Amino acid sequence: VATDGDDSEIPDCQLNVYNFKTLRDSPAARYGALRFDSNNTCNLHCVYCHNHRSDQTIDADEFRSFLESRIRGVTQFQVGCIMEPTLDPRLADLMLMIGNSPARPTECLILQTNGLLIHRHDHAKLQAAGLTRLSVSLDTADPQMQKSLRSGMSLDKVLRNITEFMRSCPGIEVEFISVVTAINIDQIEMLIDLGLDRGVRRFVLRELLYYPNNDVVDHVRMPGLLLRAGQFAEMIARVQARFGDKIELYFASNDQLDASAREMFENSRFIDRNSIPARFGAKELT
Ligand SMILES: C[S@@+](CC[C@H](N)C(=O)[O-])C[C@H]1O[C@@H](n2cnc3c(N)ncnc32)[C@H](O)[C@@H]1O
Ligand code: SF4
Repeated sequence: VATDGDDSEIPDCQLNVYNFKTLRDSPAARYGALRFDSNNTCNLHCVYCHNHRSDQTIDADEFRSFLESRIRGVTQFQVGCIMEPTLDPRLADLMLMIGNSPARPTECLILQTNGLLIHRHDHAKLQAAGLTRLSVSLDTADPQMQKSLRSGMSLDKVLRNITEFMRSCPGIEVEFISVVTAINIDQIEMLIDLGLDRGVRRFVLRELLYYPNNDVVDHVRMPGLLLRAGQFAEMIARVQARFGDKIELYFASNDQLDASAREMFENSRFIDRNSIPARFGAKELT
């Protein structure tokens, strides 16, 4: 267990191929939220995703040593933040490492995923790691719209994986995390109904965020997907009126997402600003 560093807390920080070496070579720290990616690639190309990709990964032994020597404590540990964690065949073992280390979070261990490949990972191991929440990205109950936003993905396949996951891990909460755009905003209630039918009780609705200087995102489609001023707030009022007393609802406007992305960027101490895993384009950062 780490003995150096001090007891102050870094509130929100990423840990991935862009800063692993920096944090490994720094004094131990205590984290509020630590958001980890062991790999840097994905099986989808969602229309709104701003993140660069590569075939880099974090070495398992180095990760274990980091957890043992550089962590003084974590409140929330999230696996899957900038890319797709289920593409890493080591996922369940890495999560077990977290669960058996000083980084075992005191509040929640979250796996955030596009949901297409959860079936490839040993659910019993995920449970043994102390996973508390599976956070699945879904934007709409309409399979064609879901395909068009999230690069041809099969909604049906994700729903089958969720059902199977809930059957084998009944104690682990499942949430839907959704990007609200101009094309799905009028159908958010249908997405929530779909989740409710399947036993999902927690929903996170995030307004579409767009950085026009980013060199990954689809600039042809993005402007047409942005919400107009006030539209997100209207949706919040509507959804809260209908579901507010029945389920857990969380909302993040793009101003809030932008502020937290910037804070996370500073805390994470990335060395290469041109290949940042944060969602902004280089110009916004200077
Ligand atoms: C970058 S993904 C990484 C985890 C995993 N691949 C997934 O999609 O769940 C994390 C979350 O960011 C959301 N996201 C991506 N681009 C976004 C944008 N421009 N605005 C708001 N949320 C976005 C995704 O839909 C997903 O819920
Ligand atoms: S949002 Fe997630 S699933 Fe979509 S391209 Fe980005 S990392 Fe992949």
